[in-house]
Amino acid sequence: MTTTPDLTAMEQEKLRAHVAEVLTRARARSTALTDAVDDHDLTRQHSRLMSPLVWDLAHIGNQEELWLVRDVGGRDPVRQDIDELYDAFKHARVDRPALPLLGPAEARGYVTEVRDKVLDVLDHAVLEGRPLVEGAFAFGMIAQHEQQHDETMLATHQLRAGAPALDAPPPPRGRRVPAAEVLVPAGPFTMGTSTEPWALDNERPAHTVPVAPFYLDTTPVTCGAYAEFIDDGGYDDRRWWTGAGWEHRQKAGLTAPLYWGREGRQWTRRVFGRQEPITPNEPVLHVSWYEADAYARWAGRRLPTEAEWEKAARFDPATGLTRRYPWGNADPDTSYANVGQAFLRPAPAGSYPGGAAPCGARQLIGDVWEWTSSDFGPYPGFEAWPYKEYSEVFFGPEYKVLRGGSFAVSAVACRGTFRNWDYPIRRQIFAGFRTARSGEAELA
Ligand SMILES: [Fe+2]
Repeated sequence: MTTTPDLTAMEQEKLRAHVAEVLTRARARSTALTDAVDDHDLTRQHSRLMSPLVWDLAHIGNQEELWLVRDVGGRDPVRQDIDELYDAFKHARVDRPALPLLGPAEARGYVTEVRDKVLDVLDHAVLEGRPLVEGAFAFGMIAQHEQQHDETMLATHQLRAGAPALDAPPPPRGRRVPAAEVLVPAGPFTMGTSTEPWALDNERPAHTVPVAPFYLDTTPVTCGAYAEFIDDGGYDDRRWWTGAGWEHRQKAGLTAPLYWGREGRQWTRRVFGRQEPITPNEPVLHVSWYEADAYARWAGRRLPTEAEWEKAARFDPATGLTRRYPWGNADPDTSYANVGQAFLRPAPAGSYPGGAAPCGARQLIGDVWEWTSSDFGPYPGFEAWPYKEYSEVFFGPEYKVLRGGSFAVSAVACRGTFRNWDYPIRRQIFAGFRTARSGEAELA
């Protein structure tokens, strides 16, 4: 772990205020997502892929209790008796509805009690000295954890049948982009981080990676472009699919992205309980890695590697430095990117010109998670932290890496270095993609 230099009392106070703010923001979102539906919808399972919403809520509180009340705070347990119920490694999602879970009122009371204790722990904690509290790491980890579960709960809302329960204004208009693709020149860049205080173990350490020149789509692939792939028979043409992808496409009967349907010649989709025509210039969502990969082959292109994606997002050729975000080092806000569930959908392609990367690519952060061609693995010098189950147990070729975050990620859980991973068949996550092709120098 990188340690921050000794903090002055004033810096400690500022950090404490920041921690309180991100924790409070996460809780406001968890509350809104769980207050939006009745007790029946909180306790039932909306999909075998997801936990009941009330499991997510109490699990958020339980993780917070384990790390911040007991470990950082050294306080007595609040509900040690429920640790096992809310251990994600002990019970598969499909089995969770049958567990003797806390009911909605009990779960709400539990997370509130834990949070009250945590804010007291925060008031007294010295945010340096011990690696777990250095730079308030454990608090940042827990805020990220809650926001990640909020994104999962939002995905459960999208899976839920019945009347709409969530509302949001429309995102900004799309903008024209100067060109369909951008060139990312050859050369090494610094991938990952050793300095970002709340970066998770899999983002560490910073290391130099050579990258051959390549072209990358300026924006994520849109619904309109994806519909052309479908209409061109892409789902029925084995040439575009990997062996495993074709097998899965056959077995699962895939014919279009999840939530898509046809009304006559018009493609429609369901968005948080509302049926609507697809928006042609909106980034496509809810496609598996296999579908993204097949589209790219059909288009005569390929998915970018994880290193290519990160170089496009972070490398500034003018300075030779790697930025925190495509637009620079400032934290994400709504002028740079569609994050934080400000809207219930990705913004149209070309939006957020102010958030463009030095290479010209837009919407790398926010809007849709982007599948990459890379398997999830450790960086050179990786050390599991603060526990093995955070990332290490998931390393391997069965998981593909996604980058950039969706409209449903929070700023606290979204960085140029942030890595997400999932099975290549998964479609309920807010994932889309963009495509790439190798540049001339590599072909010469
Ligand atoms: Fe969790």
